[in-house]
Amino acid sequence: MSNNAGLFSSSLGRKYLMAITGLFLCSFLLVHLIGNVALYTDPVKFNEYTRFMSSNPLIRVMEIILVVGFLAHIIDAVLLTKANKAAQPVKYAMDKKNSSWYSRNMGLTGSIILAFLVLHLQSFWYQYKFGEVVYVLDSNGESIKDMYTIVITAFQQSWYAGIYVIAMVLLGSHLNHGFQSAFQSVGLRHKKYTPTIKKLGTAFSVLITLGFISFPIYFYFSQL
Ligand code: HEM
Repeated sequence: MSNNAGLFSSSLGRKYLMAITGLFLCSFLLVHLIGNVALYTDPVKFNEYTRFMSSNPLIRVMEIILVVGFLAHIIDAVLLTKANKAAQPVKYAMDKKNSSWYSRNMGLTGSIILAFLVLHLQSFWYQYKFGEVVYVLDSNGESIKDMYTIVITAFQQSWYAGIYVIAMVLLGSHLNHGFQSAFQSVGLRHKKYTPTIKKLGTAFSVLITLGFISFPIYFYFSQL
């Protein structure tokens, strides 16, 4: 690829874009997980958190960046995989033997996470914006949409909770490889730091997986 081709049309540029959008999505996941902890502590606080997420202007801007980031991440993943296969078909086949399951199945786990997201956004985000959600009172005595009941009712269905558990395990696998790979793509590859970054990536994916998995498991079993 020529140097004149421009950063984002080159394979290196695409790697950077993948890494930056991936790390942005990681930070979104952390904020989303922290917000969801209110499901355990206080239904009113959780409803106030979802209202904040849906109405705060700064969050709206972040939402647009998030959607663009998601699309860029997905399109780049497809382009990068095609370019890798076309450039080095033999090396690609050999790499299969020497690489981890996580790294070889980024496309598969990413596609399942995308399918999960369609279900997730339909049941919560779409429901919040356009569905018929019952109103309750917030901490100031004003009307607020009761997303708490929507979420726990969803998790009380075994098939729905089951899909979340499977999707979260695959999300963990995707993050476990993606996190350290993103740092390498932006040039942070060093004998001294790479093992620490890998450990950090694994710790992050375990935290995200166990954190998100805990909600469907807790609310499913607490009704029995
Ligand atoms: C399992 C626990 C989860 C719960 C209880 C949960 C709950 C919710 C709720 C209630 C909303 C709608 C209100 C809002 O915007 O905050 C929402 C939105 C969203 N969730 Fe989740 N979520 C979970 C996991 C995830 C995961 C694992 C992902 C990503 C892989 C994700 C991605 C999103 C996205 C992208 C939105 C739309 C955000 C926006 O722009 O408003 N969620 N979630």
